Amino acid sequence: MQIKVPATSANVGPGFDSVGVAVSKYLTITVEGPSEEWYIEHDLDYVPHDKHNLLLKTALKIKSDLKPHRLKMVSDIPLARGLGSSSSVIVAGIELANQLGDLNLSKEQKLQLATEIEGHPDNVAPAIFGNLVVASYVDKKATAIVADFPDAAFLAFIPDYELRTSDSRGVLPTQLSYKKAVAASSIANVAVAALLTGDLTKAGQAIESDKFHEQFRQKLVPEFSTIKAIGHDHGAYATYLSGAGPTVMVIAPHEKVEVINKAVNALNFKGECVSLTVDKKGISVS
Ligand code: HSE
Repeated sequence: MQIKVPATSANVGPGFDSVGVAVSKYLTITVEGPSEEWYIEHDLDYVPHDKHNLLLKTALKIKSDLKPHRLKMVSDIPLARGLGSSSSVIVAGIELANQLGDLNLSKEQKLQLATEIEGHPDNVAPAIFGNLVVASYVDKKATAIVADFPDAAFLAFIPDYELRTSDSRGVLPTQLSYKKAVAASSIANVAVAALLTGDLTKAGQAIESDKFHEQFRQKLVPEFSTIKAIGHDHGAYATYLSGAGPTVMVIAPHEKVEVINKAVNALNFKGECVSLTVDKKGISVS
């Protein structure tokens, strides 16, 4: 059995802690068979192979008496870069428990469990449902609406440094005035409505007008403003900070991506530029 989970790009500008999109990088877990002890084969440094691995911690939290198996974990989702690497592992862990424990969990139940464990529905929901997801997690209840992301190309600049979500949340204000919160939420509403109606030009303007988090986090990602300016010069719809960063995501018409890619590469920032597509499927088991 194989469990495949896409990467996620959360926030999408003003959809802070609420909006996310699944993108074409993947974590794959292969269940090789029953074993005396749990063991996960992988080639990541400093990541446990046993029950201390997040995958197994999650699976065993969902069902503590699962029979041990030997597993293989392969992922091209970079760690601590704002592309949902740990979300993918948590979502895979829930699915592992679902499959090995015959739990028959619905997608909504998986969302609730994953959000309780990870904390942010915008990170985990697109990994479960695929596509564009608008979600909330209030009073311990997760709710999500899934929709088609309008046709566009995604270009991710993935810096070669890590940024922990806790550090990136540490620079956010603890309070926002009522007036600012109303303004920030109206911008988020327009971004979502524009995405749902396929108006990428208006969506792009709203995405770039975020008032919840990007202005505070910019100092942690020095490449962000330069890449955003390149997007403006070359016809991108929007540039935003993917999740808690440091990945910078550009959404652009397909025909503009190559020139944006070249312009970003010419900056010689340390990191890589990767073309991504929207994953429409979410988690799959085969
Ligand atoms: N919405 C979350 C944040 C996603 O931006 O902090 C990362 O966990």
